[in-house]
Amino acid sequence: MIEVKNITKSFEGRKVLNDISAVFETGKTNLIIGRSGSGKTVLIKNIIGLMKPDSGEILYDGRDLTSMNKQELNMLRREMGMLFQGSALFDSMTVLENVMFPLNMFSKESYKDREKRAMFCLERVNLEEAEHLYPSEISGGMMKRAAIARAIALNPKYLFCDEPNSGLDPKTSLLIDDLIHDITTEYQMTTVINTHDMNSVMNIGENIIFIKEGVKEWQGTKDQVITSNNKALNDFIFASDLFRKVKEVEMKQEEG
Ligand SMILES: Nc1ncnc2c1ncn2[C@@H]1O[C@H](COP(=O)(O)OP(=O)(O)O)[C@@H](O)[C@H]1O
Ligand SMILES: [Mg+2]
Repeated sequence: MIEVKNITKSFEGRKVLNDISAVFETGKTNLIIGRSGSGKTVLIKNIIGLMKPDSGEILYDGRDLTSMNKQELNMLRREMGMLFQGSALFDSMTVLENVMFPLNMFSKESYKDREKRAMFCLERVNLEEAEHLYPSEISGGMMKRAAIARAIALNPKYLFCDEPNSGLDPKTSLLIDDLIHDITTEYQMTTVINTHDMNSVMNIGENIIFIKEGVKEWQGTKDQVITSNNKALNDFIFASDLFRKVKEVEMKQEEG
């Protein structure tokens, strides 16, 4: 479980995160949603310690990241897996070498065991046949799966994904969502996902934090999204075509 308490962050006097508090639950896909520019990436960067908040606490199962020294932070980082915008694979390495990279950096296991672990992760994302291919030789969806395999290589307790579906078609996006959800449940990770994709919200929104202009407006589940009366949330979801339809049906049913 990750608890964010009263996080505030300003750039040049402008508040980009304004007193945000939220709980991200273990074994669940926790979504941070909001329009582009609302502060999602800044929030996730604060949570993983890439940016320092002006005030507030970030508790990883009770351990406060904001009061850690460099060494403690490095130790905690080894419990985190990250999947950032784009797949950020190394072009000059094969898929297998990409997945082995964090293991080579941090694991003390033998080469054979590291390779075995990397192959296990590739099998988990159904990519074992691409082990010897280079990123330029595979599709966007496969790159994303390779990046997921790399992110889980060190068996992280916490998984962070910033817009994991950017650049993917809707069908591939659904598969990636399902994969992230499944491994989250399977390995009981605390997974935090930034997205503005309503399909993802309805597919894997087990715990949703909605932010607007740096303020947390609403928190709930995908089922509660449909019936929420929060105006800002409704404005956000009504901007999505799919969602307008779902909500209209829902409201007609409520009217009788
Ligand atoms: N390093 C930075 N310096 C100054 N402003 C920043 C920086 N990073 C982000 N911002 C600003 O913070 C706001 C929120 O950005 P961001 O978190 O990237 O939004 P989102 O991920 O929701 O699209 C934006 O107005 C952005 O311009
Ligand atoms: Mg962003």
